[in-house]
Amino acid sequence: MKDIIQTKVVKITDIGDTKLAEMGEIIRNGGLVSFPTETVYGLGANAFDEKAVLSVFEAKNRPADNPLIVHLADICDLDSVAEEIPDEAYRLFERFSPGPLTIILKKKPTLPDAVTAGLDTVAVRIPSHPIARALIEEAGVPIAAPSSNLSGRPSPTNVQHVIDDMMGRIPAIIDGGACSVGVESTVIEIISGIVNVLRPGGITKSDLEEVLKNVTVDKHVTEMVSDGETPRSPGMKYKHYAPNAEVVVYVGDTKNTALEIKGLLALEKDIPCGVICYDGFAFDCETVLYMGENNKTYAERLFDALRQCDTLGIKKVFAQFTEDEDYGLAVRNRLFKAAGGRVVRI
Ligand code: TXA
Ligand code: MG
Repeated sequence: MKDIIQTKVVKITDIGDTKLAEMGEIIRNGGLVSFPTETVYGLGANAFDEKAVLSVFEAKNRPADNPLIVHLADICDLDSVAEEIPDEAYRLFERFSPGPLTIILKKKPTLPDAVTAGLDTVAVRIPSHPIARALIEEAGVPIAAPSSNLSGRPSPTNVQHVIDDMMGRIPAIIDGGACSVGVESTVIEIISGIVNVLRPGGITKSDLEEVLKNVTVDKHVTEMVSDGETPRSPGMKYKHYAPNAEVVVYVGDTKNTALEIKGLLALEKDIPCGVICYDGFAFDCETVLYMGENNKTYAERLFDALRQCDTLGIKKVFAQFTEDEDYGLAVRNRLFKAAGGRVVRI
C-alpha cells in the first residue's frame, strides 16, 4: 500500500510568480509536480533522475513498458536527450514548436533507461503553455512527463481532474486553469524522411503535410492492436479513456445520428443514460454533454465529458460523431477506445 502524502495545490496565473521557482526546485530535487500544458496536464519529474522517473510510474500506476515524453524549453536543448537528429525533425519543430508535437528520436545514452522504458528512442516535445515553459526553465532540467491521470483514465484537462486522480500521491499540483487543445500531443516518428503518425493530436496530418509531403497514419491509430502484435508505440496497446459507463458511438451525418440516438433513448428509459453530441441538437435525456460545433471543440471537451459520465453515475452513453481527417482523427482515436469497439455507422 502506497503512503499517502500531503499534496500542495498552487494556483499560478503569471509566469512572474515566485511560486514557480519553488515548483522547479521540487522537480530538480527529485519530486513530482503536476503542471498545465496546452494539451493536457502533465506529471513532471527530472528526466535525469532515475528514481524520480520511476516514482512517476508508481504515482499513476503506469505499466513499466510505456515510455514517457521528455519536455524541453527550447529546440536548442534537443541534443541533451537525443542524438542523430534528422533534418526533418528540426524542420517540423521549427514550424510547430513550441506546440503539441512530439517526435520520436534516437535516445542519448546518458538519459536514464527508465524514461524510455528501455527503448533506444526518446519522445521529445516543446510545450507552448507559458507555465510549462517557465517550469522547465526554473527546474533547469528536461522534464519527463506523462499525462497526469491514473493509468487508464481520461487525460486531465483541468485542475479538478488532476486533484481527483493525484491528491495524496504527489507533492504538488500547479493550478493553471483549463488546457486549450484538450487532447494529447501528436506523436510522430520519422523513417527515411517519411513522417508516420503514431497518435493524432493538436497538430493535424494536413499541418504536417505543409512541411513534409510524405505523411502516413499508422494503422494502429484507427485499428485495435491484436494479440501478438507489437505496435510502433507502446501506448497504442493500452485501453484508455473508458468511463464506467458503456459508450456506443454513432458515426455519420449529424441529422441521421441524432435521429438514431433519439429512437434508442426512448427504449432505455430505465437506466441513467447520457448523450455526447454536437451543438444544436436536443434530446429527451437528463445528461446531454455538448461538444461544440466541430471536431476541434469536440477534442477540447471530450475528456471532461467522459469524466462527467462517471461523476454523474451514467450507465450508458450515446455519442454522436462525424469523421474528418483533421481534428476528427484525434477525436476518433480517443472516442473509439472509450467505446471499446462499440461503433455503429449510420
Ligand atoms: O500532450 C502530451 O503529449 C501530454 C503532455 C503532458 O505533454 N503527454 C502525454 O504523455 O500524453 P503520455 O505518457 O500520456 O503519452 C505518451 C505517449 C504514449 O502513448 C507512449 O507510448 C508514447 O507517447 N511514447 C513515448 N515514448 C515513446 C517512444 N520512445 N517510442 C514510441 N512511443 C513513445
Ligand atoms: Mg496518457
